[in-house]
Amino acid sequence: MKILVVGGGGREHAIIKKIKENEKVTKIYALPGNGGIAADAECVDIGAKDIDKIVEFSKEKEIDYAIVAPDDPLVLGCVDKLEEAGIPCFGPRANAAIIEGSKVFSKELMKKYNIPTAAYEVFDDINEAVKYVDKAKLPLVVKADGLALGKGVVIATSRGDALTAIVNCMQNKVFGESGTHVVIEEFMEGPEVSVLAFTDGKTVVPMVSSMDHKRALEGGTGPNTGGMGTIAPNPHYTDEIAKECMEKIFIPTINAMNKEGRTFKGCLYFGLMLTKDGPKVIEYNCRFGDPETQVVLPLLESDLLDIMMAVTEERLSEVEVKFSDKSACCVIAASEGYPVKYDKGFEIKISKKVIDHVYVAGAAKADGKLVTNGGRVLGCTAVADTLEEAIADAYKLMEGVSFENIYYRHDIGYKAVNVKKA
Ligand code: AMP
Ligand code: GLY
Repeated sequence: MKILVVGGGGREHAIIKKIKENEKVTKIYALPGNGGIAADAECVDIGAKDIDKIVEFSKEKEIDYAIVAPDDPLVLGCVDKLEEAGIPCFGPRANAAIIEGSKVFSKELMKKYNIPTAAYEVFDDINEAVKYVDKAKLPLVVKADGLALGKGVVIATSRGDALTAIVNCMQNKVFGESGTHVVIEEFMEGPEVSVLAFTDGKTVVPMVSSMDHKRALEGGTGPNTGGMGTIAPNPHYTDEIAKECMEKIFIPTINAMNKEGRTFKGCLYFGLMLTKDGPKVIEYNCRFGDPETQVVLPLLESDLLDIMMAVTEERLSEVEVKFSDKSACCVIAASEGYPVKYDKGFEIKISKKVIDHVYVAGAAKADGKLVTNGGRVLGCTAVADTLEEAIADAYKLMEGVSFENIYYRHDIGYKAVNVKKA
């Protein structure tokens, strides 16, 4: 089988490495992929948002199955266009990807179908938003409606901060059209859990839970990033909470999307907060999380491609989705200064001993060498019997990786270990 993977980060590298385990796979193309992915797939210089070229390429190469991994092409209708060209795909169509593409849509969906989430108001008039902030309880959370590379959320602890966020979004348009509408919502407190789930619109199968570490610096300080490391499973996510989430959040969401005529097929990501009033949805993503995928897929014992194809063919209930009961930890190595300002172009050295455990994100090939080409450069994932061992092993793996200006957090998973001990 000839497989196409749209995207070019660590998440896509993890998907590709897993897909390769399937004997039916004869060829994998990554669009655009990256310098590290090139060791596992043929990378072709077509951007993930260049839908027409992706479709043209797929037809030309007679692709048997396509996996669209990032949010942008999903929201732009990449799956719709590939399907129209007769290529079966993993990923939601545009009318379902809106669950991530518009926060206004997802909040209204949750309100309509009684799915627990933070209380909120939507504004398209800046004066109304300002008036609301004058009276509302602090802290407040201000969110741009559309996709904003994970940067469209501001937790405002003062009215001044909330007003700045609103002006930046609605007037200065720092997120472009994504900020035409803003959602202002109640601040929730509690541990966060990421749950990715396979769904074909009929059945929903949650994967092993995970914990992201979004802040750039140790101890959860510094600016928000795309994610500096992950562990799985998340110790906060007990069997009891999992059952509650299934009943109150996962199944109701799938049913709600069906009722709206927007059947979701693919991987639905539930960003959850375990508040004192029960689990609530922080956000939905219409795709695998990054770097959650880099700890979830290494724990998957069943065949990923078989599951994905079952999702596409709406027979998910017929396949086995089995996870190991081990633990995994992924530590992300970034360029010093990420997410604000950083240099690129430094040679990356990865020792042969660790290469199987490395997922490459921001890297390119230059003169035959692998060089840094982004903020998050790569991730090292270890799987072990216990979380403590997985963390220690992930940091050991990191010793097999080097590049100038490397930066990584040294405390990935530490909080989770303490939860387990408590
Ligand atoms: P997002 O970019 O939507 O993933 O949001 C980034 C982070 O902001 C989340 O991981 C949460 O830590 C935080 N966040 C978002 N919404 C809320 C909320 N209503 N209350 C508290 N924290 C929030
Ligand atoms: N790690 C969070 C995300 O993928 O959006």
